[in-house]
Amino acid sequence: MIYGWPETDDSKKMLIEQVREFARAEIAPKAAEIDREGRFPTEIVKQLGDMGLMGMMVPEQWGGSGMDAVSYAMAMEEISAACASSGVIMSVNNSLSCWPISEYGTDAQKDKWLKPMAKGEKLGSFALSEPGHGSDPAGLKLQAQKVDGGYKLKGSKNWITNGKEADICVVFANTNPQAGYKGICAFIVDTKSPGFSVSKLEDKLGITGSSTGQLFFDDVFVPADCLLGQEGKGFKIALSTLDGGRIGIASQALGIARCALDASKRFASEREQHGGPIKNLQAIQFFIADMATRLQSARLLTWHAAKCKDLGLSYTKEAAMAKLAASEAAMWITTKAIQVHGGYGYTKEYVVERNFRDAKITELYEGTSEIQRIVIAAQEFAHLN
Ligand code: CAA
Repeated sequence: MIYGWPETDDSKKMLIEQVREFARAEIAPKAAEIDREGRFPTEIVKQLGDMGLMGMMVPEQWGGSGMDAVSYAMAMEEISAACASSGVIMSVNNSLSCWPISEYGTDAQKDKWLKPMAKGEKLGSFALSEPGHGSDPAGLKLQAQKVDGGYKLKGSKNWITNGKEADICVVFANTNPQAGYKGICAFIVDTKSPGFSVSKLEDKLGITGSSTGQLFFDDVFVPADCLLGQEGKGFKIALSTLDGGRIGIASQALGIARCALDASKRFASEREQHGGPIKNLQAIQFFIADMATRLQSARLLTWHAAKCKDLGLSYTKEAAMAKLAASEAAMWITTKAIQVHGGYGYTKEYVVERNFRDAKITELYEGTSEIQRIVIAAQEFAHLN
């Protein structure tokens, strides 16, 4: 049984034991240094690729592992419990870069672009947000002008995870601004294309080992065969991709929260006050009980969303609920983890300080908590009996 999931089959158990062992032995010991130095963990990303974790849900035919979304969610939790920066790099490659090409790409696009990303030989990114369009991407301004043989992209993108290192970027641009979101198209862009540049890297509170870049497109030529899906369908491609991405980020939040809970239990067992370990104090027991309960509630919502995806059911609302619950649980749990540690938890000597900083982003990217509530409420009203 994996963390209270009675249905877990043997193949998932084996996978998760393997990923957990790898994360504990190879990633966790480096996580503090990655955070402190703000270093992109190149060697870890390579290992994730070798283990088949960079294209988990991509069919084997296209270089992936052909696994289901529940396995992906479980693996994401394990990697993120060791290092949240590695977690988001993995999540963006799997959910936001491989998935849309796997779902909407032609066979030729899958062969050329998806295969190397799913194998972990190339890294992907997803460029939707812009300086003036974060929560409201329908009005995005990146221009895609039709030219002979393809399109020319002009404008900029913001908050792009893997922005600095990505080889391939799924980019959203508008060919017909008068049509609003119905003019948005998705493109597969080679980041070596002339005119493409990373104009700024953000100096962040947490997940410092992953890069967050501003991209600049100076008349970047994109050949016609790099249009992903149909013209004008890019907005739907973006939002359906984010549905899956939210399961990945929910799982990242679970990993961060679990790391903080485990650290709190260890600390409470060792730290002595009032004549014994503080775990004997009811105040601490109540913290631990509430942390564990919130974590498990969020985990079940996350696995439920992943299961809906695997069963081919709608999962827009489920993914939004999972991300909302898991990210807010992570913020709450990491805050309490510092409280359990007292002053020690406020220092960089203890992992909970990093967990607290890393947790915050999960309430922001791939849709803020407020956006998740908008998505959930819209779905609730759409199914009014
Ligand atoms: N899947 C597919 N299509 C969808 C959809 C979904 N989940 N949700 C809506 N649509 C479709 C609708 O059916 C509609 O199409 P039709 O007109 O043909 O019916 C169209 O999209 C427009 O729908 P809405 O009017 O509901 O769209 P909206 O503009 O009001 O936006 C929103 C709704 C949910 C708020 C959306 O804007 C949203 O999710 N915003 C947040 C964006 C976000 O998460 N950004 C993060 C970017 S990635 C990132 O964080 C960086 C990184 O690198 C990790």
